[in-house]
This record gives sequence, C-alpha cells and structure tokens, in this order.
Amino acid sequence: MARRRLALLNLLVPLAAVLVPLSIVGYRYVPVARQYFDDQSCVGCHRQHNARLVDQWLDSAHFGADVGCEACHGTDHDAMFAAHGDVAPTVCDECHADAYTEFARSKHAEAEADAKGHAMFLAAPPAIQRQGCMACHAIGKIWPDGSTGRCNDCHGGHRFSAAEARAPEACEVCHMGPDHPQIEAWRSSKHGIAYRTGETDGAPSCVTCHLGGAAGHDVTANLTLGRGAGGAILVGESVGIPSKVIDRATFDANRGRMLAICRQCHAEGFADRSLRDADEIKRIADGLVAEAAQILNELSREGLIVPAPEDRPPNPKAGHAFVLGGQQVYSDTSAIELRFFEMAKFHHSITFKGAYHNSPDYTHWNGYQPLQADLTFIRSEAHRLRQARKAAQGPAAPSPTPPAAPFAPAEPPAGPVEAP
Ligand code: HEC
Ligand code: HEC
Ligand code: HEC
Ligand code: HEC
Ligand code: HEC
Ligand code: HEC
Ligand code: HEC
Ligand code: HEC
Repeated sequence: MARRRLALLNLLVPLAAVLVPLSIVGYRYVPVARQYFDDQSCVGCHRQHNARLVDQWLDSAHFGADVGCEACHGTDHDAMFAAHGDVAPTVCDECHADAYTEFARSKHAEAEADAKGHAMFLAAPPAIQRQGCMACHAIGKIWPDGSTGRCNDCHGGHRFSAAEARAPEACEVCHMGPDHPQIEAWRSSKHGIAYRTGETDGAPSCVTCHLGGAAGHDVTANLTLGRGAGGAILVGESVGIPSKVIDRATFDANRGRMLAICRQCHAEGFADRSLRDADEIKRIADGLVAEAAQILNELSREGLIVPAPEDRPPNPKAGHAFVLGGQQVYSDTSAIELRFFEMAKFHHSITFKGAYHNSPDYTHWNGYQPLQADLTFIRSEAHRLRQARKAAQGPAAPSPTPPAAPFAPAEPPAGPVEAP
C-alpha cells in the first residue's frame, strides 16, 4: 500500500512540477504557440519571412505585456503596405501618453520641418536630401495625421527597448560630425572616460543630462545658450547672424534643471562654474562670428564679393540677397563666404558644444583655434580684395566719389532674429 502511494507520488510530483508552472505561464505561451505554428497568423507567417523581427518581438517588453503585432499595425494588410510598414507615434500615444507628449514638446519633433525649410535642403539633389538630411531629421517625421516623430529612431524595432535607447550609441548616428560633435566631445571628456572605463553608475552619458528624469522625452528642457544648431542668445544680445533667442526666465528654469542633474555627483558651485565658463566661451565665439559678419557685410556693400549674389544662382530661400548664417548655403558661393560658412556652422558650434561637454580638445584645438584662424583669414582676405581693387583702378586714380544712399553703416542687424 505504502509502496503504491509512493509510486503515485513519484509520478504526481514531477508532473505537477511541470504542469503547475506551465499553466501559470501558459495563458501567454499557448496562444502564442498556436499563432507560431499557424501560417495564417501574423506571427506564424512572418516568422518565415522575417525571423529576426519576430525573434526581437518575442524578446521584447511588448511580448511580455501581451502587445501583439495587431496592436501597432492593425489587421488590414493593404493599409500596412500603403504605410510602408511604418507606424505613426499616435499609435504609441494610446499606451505611452507621457512619452508622446514630452517628445512632441522637444526640438526632435521639429526636425523634419526644420530641414525641409532650409536652403541647403532645397539646393541639394533628392537622393542627398533623403540620405544626407532626412536620414537624421526624420526623427521629427511629419505623419499624414499631423503627428510628428519616429520613436524607433532610438527604440529600434522590434525590441523597442529602453536600455538600448539609454546607450550613448543610440544618439551617435546623428549627434556627431563637424557641426554637432557631441559624442566625440563627450567621449573625450572626463565623463566619457569614466563611462568607458566601466564606471557605469558614477559616469553620466547623454541620457543622464538630456533625457529621462524631470525632462522625460523633452531633450530641449535642460538647454539654455547651447540650444540648437548655432546655439541661442539672451534677449538683447547679438551674434550678427540669425540666432534663436531665449528669455531670462527660460534660461533660469532650464539651467536649474541641468544643475539638479550635476548635483547628483558634484557640488553645485563646481558644476555652476563649469557651465558659466561654457556660457562665457559661447559669447566669445559669438563675438568672433559677429566681427567676421560685419567684415563680409561691408565687402558686399563695396561690391567686393565675387561673384556677386545677383550674378549667381539664387539662394532657394533668399533669392539674390546676401546671406550669412541662417539660410546660407555652401554651393554657388565665393571663397570668403565659404570660409564664413565653415566658421559659423562648424568652428563656432564646436567651440561652445565642446565646452558644454567638457572636452578641452574640442573647445580649443578643434574649436577656438580654427575660429580665430577663420577670422584672421577673413580680415586679411578683405584687405587683399580692397588692395586688388585699388591696384586695378590704377596708381594715381582719383579717389572715387563717396558712395551715396543704400550704403548703410556697417551695423549688425538691429535686433536678434529667430532662426529659421
Ligand atoms: C500569409 C502570410 C502573411 C500573414 C498572415 C500576414 N502577413 Fe504581413 N506580410 C506578408 C508578406 C509576404 C509581406 C511582404 C514581406 C516582405 O517584403 O518581406 C508582408 C508585409 C507586412 C508588413 C510590411 C509592409 C511593408 O510595406 O513594408 C507588415 C507591417 C505586416 N506584413 C504586418 C502583418 C500583420 C500585423 C499581420 C497580422 C494581422 C500580417 N502581416 C499577416 C505575409 C503575411
Ligand atoms: C510596438 C509596436 C509594434 C509592434 C508590437 C509590432 N510592430 Fe512591426 N513595426 C513597428 C514600427 C514602428 C515599424 C517601422 C520600423 C522601421 O521602419 O524600422 C514596424 C515595421 C514592421 C515591418 C516592416 C519593416 C521590416 O523590417 O520588415 C514588418 C514586416 C512588421 N513591422 C511586422 C510586424 C510583426 C509581424 C509583428 C508581430 C510579431 C510586429 N510587426 C509587431 C511597430 C510594431
Ligand atoms: C497596446 C498598448 C501599447 C502600444 C500600442 C505600444 N506599447 Fe510600448 N509598451 C506597452 C506596455 C504594456 C509595455 C510594458 C510596460 C511599460 O514599460 O510601460 C510597453 C513598453 C514599452 C517600452 C519600454 C521597454 C523596456 O525596455 O522597458 C518602450 C520603449 C515602448 N513600449 C515603446 C513603444 C513604442 C515606440 C510604441 C509605438 C511604435 C509602443 N510602445 C506601442 C504597451 C504598448
Ligand atoms: C548626421 C545627422 C544629420 C544630418 C545628415 C543633417 N543634420 Fe541637420 N541637424 C542634426 C542635428 C543633430 C542637429 C542639432 C544640432 C545641435 O543641437 O547641436 C541639426 C540641426 C539642424 C538645423 C537647425 C535647427 C534649429 O532650429 O536649430 C537645421 C536647419 C538643419 N539641421 C538642417 C539640415 C539640412 C538641410 C541637412 C541636409 C543638407 C541636414 N541638416 C543634415 C543632424 C543632422
Ligand atoms: C532620442 C531618443 C528617443 C526617442 C526618439 C524616443 N525615446 Fe523613448 N526612451 C528613450 C530613453 C533614453 C529612455 C529611457 C529613459 C530613462 O531611462 O529614464 C526611453 C524610455 C521610454 C519608455 C519607457 C518608460 C519611460 O518613459 O521611461 C517608453 C514607454 C518610451 N520610451 C516610449 C517612447 C515613445 C512612444 C516615443 C515616441 C513618441 C519615444 N519613446 C521616442 C529615448 C527615446
Ligand atoms: C554631464 C552632462 C552632459 C552629458 C553627459 C551630455 N551633455 Fe549634451 N549638453 C550638456 C550641457 C550642459 C549642454 C548645454 C546646456 C545649455 O544650453 O545650457 C548640452 C547641450 C547639448 C546639445 C545642444 C547643442 C550643444 O551641444 O550645445 C545637444 C544636441 C547635446 N547636448 C547632446 C548630447 C549627446 C548626444 C550626448 C552624449 C554623446 C551628450 N549631450 C552628453 C550636458 C551634457
Ligand atoms: C535619428 C537622428 C537622431 C537621434 C538618434 C538622436 N537625435 Fe537628438 N537631434 C536630432 C536632430 C535632427 C536634432 C535637431 C532638431 C531640430 O532642431 O530641428 C536633434 C536635437 C537634439 C537636442 C537639442 C534640442 C534643442 O532644443 O536644441 C538634444 C539635446 C538631443 N537631440 C539629444 C539627443 C539624445 C540624448 C539622443 C540619444 C538618446 C538623441 N538626441 C538621438 C537627431 C537625432
Ligand atoms: C553621474 C555622475 C555625474 C554627473 C551627473 C555629472 N558628473 Fe561631472 N564628473 C563625474 C565623474 C565621475 C567625473 C570624473 C572625475 C571625477 O571622478 O571627479 C566628472 C568630472 C567632471 C568635470 C572635470 C573635473 C576635472 O577634474 O577635470 C567637470 C568640469 C564636470 N564633471 C562637470 C559636470 C557638470 C557641469 C555636470 C552637469 C551638467 C556634471 N559634471 C554631471 C560624474 C558626474
């Protein structure tokens, strides 16, 4: 009797050990297993066409939370083809309203509109527009329903992972190069070194300072003078070229949020001094650009820009006007304007972006030194152009009648202008 009971137990215990957990997780795996082997289900058919994609979904938080293919793509295959398989962020909004709203507040959400409205974009051939602008700027993709954004630019499909987006590599594809070398500057800073030598708890990466926490998905929330391509200025200040303008209250609120992050690891005074130095460096860089802009504006008024704007293909946004910064293009221009383009777009940016990201080398040798070199070149080129005109007019030529009317005094634009 006892032996038979023991035999029964020997059978039931292992069986229960298998069946009980199976029934607990089964509610999830049984239907999935059914789909997996059903050729006519999304999963069953697509695992044969796109095994990698289905494996990623099986590995994702969405699978764990019962968010299936239909939740994002719907069930109408023709409509999916019409949308090229893409999914608008309004679908994500249904379950992730906070992320959606925060993202929509950020400059990321304006990226497509900003690029498509730019003269450089309009001057470029379509394939360059697609691969050389929109491959980065589609993070602000404008959808037919009016919403903007491509969440999967950071949360690659179909893993849609938060951890993947937290890695600095998630930002690298776009935040690199001569106009916005954030990853290069950060990597070569003490922060980047600490991160790369494995101090993963104590070393800040992009997301620590720009995403999550109080800012959520609004990457603009913690920025002041460092905002945008060419940075911003405070109301009343001037750079001599179009620039974004912020008011004091926005500066204080945004700086306060950034300092609260630094305080997690540093004394506030230490962090504040470092940020004030970067602000100061931004203003020094602005001053050099303003001086160069003034020289070029004078040359233009004296007719020394060759070919003159009226004698070359029109700027797609500004026509035959003389353009510096803002909507300036790098093609069909003159050598001295091209030097200014590199000064304003690259070296000005590198100097202050290097400083905000604590990279001594980007601040100085990749930024401030080339910025000074640009100004020196522009000054001496202006001198050379004036000398060349004098020589062409002959040694004893009487001084020309002083120019009349439209030759306004060489002043930077009256007030700061919002960047395009
Ligand atoms: C009988 C097979 C089959 C079933 C069932 C099926 N699909 Fe597809 N689906 C395909 C094939 C084949 C393609 C084209 C794939 C390719 O180009 O590699 C496709 C394409 C797609 C695309 C991409 C469209 C594009 O233009 O890029 C999406 C998204 C998609 N399917 C989602 C789904 C969803 C969601 C379901 C379930 C509601 C589903 N599919 C059911 C076979 C199927
Ligand atoms: C959380 C939302 C979400 C879920 C769940 C989801 N998808 Fe997608 N899917 C997307 C997004 C967003 C894209 C566009 C991705 C891109 O362009 O890289 C996409 C693109 C696709 C594509 C076309 C791109 C390619 O790489 O072939 C196919 C096919 C597809 N999904 C099938 C599926 C199938 C099958 C499932 C279920 C196993 C599924 N999706 C689940 C959001 C989702
Ligand atoms: C039907 C609801 C639903 C939809 C639609 C949906 N999600 Fe989710 N998502 C969830 C749930 C539930 C979770 C798991 C719990 C959580 O982290 O909020 C999740 C988790 C996530 C996570 C965190 C994953 C992790 O590693 O912790 C990301 C990122 C995410 N979703 C992005 C998206 C994106 C992008 C879209 C649109 C393309 C989308 N989701 C569409 C319900 C949804
Ligand atoms: C490698 C990715 C990448 C490419 C390619 C790229 N951009 Fe950008 N662009 C960015 C990033 C990142 C910023 C933000 C700069 C910053 O904050 O430091 C930006 C900023 C801008 C801005 C400034 C927006 C503002 O309001 O401050 C404009 C305009 C712009 N880009 C237009 C273009 C055009 C036009 C092209 C193609 C000719 C282009 N971009 C190519 C990544 C890119
Ligand atoms: C610029 C990169 C980036 C883009 C674009 C992006 N995310 Fe995220 N997302 C992140 C990062 C980084 C985290 C992790 C944040 C953290 O650790 O606090 C995250 C976390 C999440 C989470 C997990 C819960 C949370 O809020 O922390 C969800 C859900 C999510 N994102 C949804 C979305 C949706 C929906 C979109 C599109 C509207 C989107 N994300 C676009 C970078 C991005
Ligand atoms: C220790 C904090 C910190 C880290 C880490 C960090 N940043 Fe920044 N970032 C800043 C500060 C400070 C500013 C300027 C803030 C202001 O305008 O007041 C800034 C500005 C920016 C800007 C606006 C343009 C500019 O450079 O001024 C972008 C874009 C940016 N960071 C991207 C990144 C990326 C991408 C990474 C990772 C490779 C990163 N940041 C790492 C602190 C940080
Ligand atoms: C697919 C390209 C892409 C990726 C990936 C990307 N960004 Fe951006 N980011 C941009 C573009 C483009 C802009 C400029 C948008 C504009 O102003 O038009 C920008 C702007 C910014 C700004 C400046 C916002 C402002 O108001 O000036 C910050 C900060 C930023 N990104 C942080 C991040 C961080 C952190 C990550 C990684 C978690 C990241 N980005 C990933 C393309 C990208
Ligand atoms: C998650 C922790 C963390 C955060 C947040 C952080 N830092 Fe750091 N910081 C470090 C580490 C680690 C170092 C490397 C030197 C050390 O160990 O003190 C460092 C070094 C520095 C240095 C260089 C010091 C030197 O010895 O040359 C400066 C400047 C700095 N941080 C400024 C800032 C500013 C400004 C912020 C906020 C925008 C900030 N940090 C946010 C951890 C952090």
